[in-house]
Amino acid sequence: MVCVTGSGNQPLILSCQPNAPSTVMADVSLLGGPYHQVRAGTFALPEKFHSLTLISAYMQLTWLGHSCVLLSGTKKVLIDPFIEGGSVAYTNPDIVALTHGHADHMGETVVLKKTTIAINEIAKYLKTKGVPAEGMNLGGTISVDGVSFTMTPALHSAWIEEAGIGCNGGAAAGFVIGMDGVTVYHAGDTALFSDMKLIGELYRPDVALLPIGGRFTMGIAEAMMAANFVGAKTVIPIHYNTWEKITVDPAPFKEAIERTTDLKVNILAPGESVEILAK
Ligand code: NI
Ligand code: MN
Repeated sequence: MVCVTGSGNQPLILSCQPNAPSTVMADVSLLGGPYHQVRAGTFALPEKFHSLTLISAYMQLTWLGHSCVLLSGTKKVLIDPFIEGGSVAYTNPDIVALTHGHADHMGETVVLKKTTIAINEIAKYLKTKGVPAEGMNLGGTISVDGVSFTMTPALHSAWIEEAGIGCNGGAAAGFVIGMDGVTVYHAGDTALFSDMKLIGELYRPDVALLPIGGRFTMGIAEAMMAANFVGAKTVIPIHYNTWEKITVDPAPFKEAIERTTDLKVNILAPGESVEILAK
């Protein structure tokens, strides 16, 4: 994906494929000096150039609102394509990842008709709607177009909601998604469970997306413990303030976690993006 040319005292050029993010990050190590982060492009070589370590582990993460998150890197992965009162179709994802069948997660999945990763029962349902779905189940990992998806448990219900009676949506899930060297854990809708420790130990996510809205999922007290269990350096709260029933102030969540741990909580506004670098 990323190519480095230049050595010694020659110009140093970082280039990347057209579909790669334009802001591939790199560390330039100077003899006896600090590391400098640079962006893709051409650089005058530092006089005492020593070595170059590429961090191709970079991704842009956008919280579109509610549980909907867009990961932009080599591919565009859209998780739970629903926002209240709007559409996320403009993001034109390559892949959709669906945590469970509730309407506030399924959202525009059927309209988008993109390759959709979901639990077997939902994948079968989606195929009857003309969606090219990839079925999997809890604990499994698949690779789609170079992006890895591990389906993690979530403590939640999983009925597929649609006009009329709906149908069995298997089990609710979360995802650990690996792309471009960055690992993201999206917990889905879930209660707190102690096996989140295993998710942290096994997959070492760089960022954890945790529901904090309460009532249907964890609230902030439980999500604080979840953040500790997972141990991702960056924590981003989701699934709150969409409706009155899940209204919560995320500020105490951030304050408490940052006071008691070395984790950082990034409270995003809907539509806001952050750059995620691997540890
Ligand atoms: Ni739900
Ligand atoms: Mn939900």
